[in-house]
Amino acid sequence: MTTENQYRRTLVTSALPYANGHIHLGHIAGAYLPADIYVRFKRQKGERVLYIGGSDEYGVPITLTALKEGVTPQDVIDRYHTANAAAFEKLGISYDIYGRTSWDLHNDTTQTFFKTLDAGGYIHQESMELWYSPKLEKFLPDRYVKGTCPKCGYTDANGDECESCGAQYAAQDLVAPRANIPGDDSSPVLRESRHWFLDLPKFSEALKAWLDMHPEWRANVKGIAYGWVNDLRSRCITRDTDWGVPIPVDDPDAKDKRIYVWFDAPIGYVTNTRQWGIDTHGDATAWEAWWKAKDTRLLHFIGKDNVPFHAVIFPAMLMGQGDYVLADHVVGNEYLNIFNRKTGQSEKGSKSRGNMISVKWALEKFAPDIIRYYLCTNAPESKDSDFDWDDFMLRYNGELCDVVGNFVHRSLTMTVKNFDSRVPEPGAFDAEDEAMLAAIPAQIDAIAEALENFRFRQALERFIDLGRKANVYFDTKAPWVSRKTDMERTATTLYVCCQIVNGLCHAMAPFLPNGAATLSTILGVTLPEGGPEGGEDGWNAGKQTLPAGSPLQTPTVLFPKIDPDYIAELAETHLRGEAS
Ligand code: 2FM
Ligand code: ZN
Repeated sequence: MTTENQYRRTLVTSALPYANGHIHLGHIAGAYLPADIYVRFKRQKGERVLYIGGSDEYGVPITLTALKEGVTPQDVIDRYHTANAAAFEKLGISYDIYGRTSWDLHNDTTQTFFKTLDAGGYIHQESMELWYSPKLEKFLPDRYVKGTCPKCGYTDANGDECESCGAQYAAQDLVAPRANIPGDDSSPVLRESRHWFLDLPKFSEALKAWLDMHPEWRANVKGIAYGWVNDLRSRCITRDTDWGVPIPVDDPDAKDKRIYVWFDAPIGYVTNTRQWGIDTHGDATAWEAWWKAKDTRLLHFIGKDNVPFHAVIFPAMLMGQGDYVLADHVVGNEYLNIFNRKTGQSEKGSKSRGNMISVKWALEKFAPDIIRYYLCTNAPESKDSDFDWDDFMLRYNGELCDVVGNFVHRSLTMTVKNFDSRVPEPGAFDAEDEAMLAAIPAQIDAIAEALENFRFRQALERFIDLGRKANVYFDTKAPWVSRKTDMERTATTLYVCCQIVNGLCHAMAPFLPNGAATLSTILGVTLPEGGPEGGEDGWNAGKQTLPAGSPLQTPTVLFPKIDPDYIAELAETHLRGEAS
């Protein structure tokens, strides 16, 4: 376990989504929004933080899509890389770089990893029996072959793993195999193929020791990681395909094979950091401090299915390089399921069911802050949660609009109207004023404490709680009544309210960047951007006084309410499978 202040840099990664489809809200709730909130919070504090993302562009799903659509894999990745980068940007996921594993630079990084592991004696070769299509004269890796799962009998299982029960098995154990590519209706046969394997058992003790240093991780992540580490086997890290990073060995057998996508994908974080250094500093070595200096804190944000790769395999690959830092925290999230209002059941989001909601579609219907609010308030942190349209509307309208939006609006409207668009000069504070003024920094510290510990739902609840306290104060002081008889009292009340609004503005920025930007303009305060070089502390500025006399702009509605009829209409569209 470590304390955050021993670090000079925080390097944050979010899982690189496959450039094989539009990212959906389930992805966002798991690996992206929590990371973005954390990064924005750190930037606001003035800490040095770098946020790395990008597309995962190799792998069988991409070549299969290309084959099915009659286009090239390059066409597929170009289409979805562009679309997903745009969706992330519009939603405010504030990467410092959104890279691509198809970059040449990535071949270099991946091949260096491979060669170092090979030289260290961590890679060996094995011959194995794999499915081969006599008709196409090609091996059929992973999803190119389908069949019946030997464990659970699911009839649409992949060549090496079953999506239904999660079992992984050797190719020859698949029952009733069939080719899964257009133009091939032949029955596959087993044939020998030589592949490269990563000797994970050699890292067993080091991995255990590293996991033991992190009792603070979420139970779901630790459970999966220890499960793997206690039963480590060598993993095949190459495939029979021409779509991927070439294997850097002088061996004719390697010509028709490539490095397996799950070996190269996490290395993409390193590649993208290298590219970031070149783009922003013209410095091809700038990345090294972020990956090799001992005072860098590395954090991975991922969905549950990616835990073995980030908490076992990639750390082993990093250990094998010799001089890289290891993750200080792997923040793994559960799944955001879909509540089907017709059946009354919660169901898994799936492409074949057509029940997923793409970010692209959601952003055509709602402002980014609305989506961010619901996905954070309902984040699947320790258990699965449901996307439910009624809940979506009730939480947003009832909490963000009614509690925070309403307080900000009525406070600022009254202040602007009655005090010449300036923060009023207060009179003497009474006990309620004092208590409210003390609650602002206390609540901001409580939000920070939750964020530091990756409890994003709790942090947002504490933010809303500040809004609730503010409304109680406002209603108790009733400035709309005191205004008729006691302008000094009214000035004091609205002065306190302006301090709360200032606190809310700073505290909302990591969660709701657009609302915070609008409010900061109204208040005339600056929210520093921060970044990899660090900067001034704009988080604790929320605890400082907004001086009496500061000019205010006429407020606009920060969070407009959603109309129930609109929600009903969208829920129907979603049920028809038109939201993906
Ligand atoms: O599950 C996925 O979408 C993978 N493309 C995640 C890769 S994460 C990292 F290793 F790049
Ligand atoms: Zn199965």
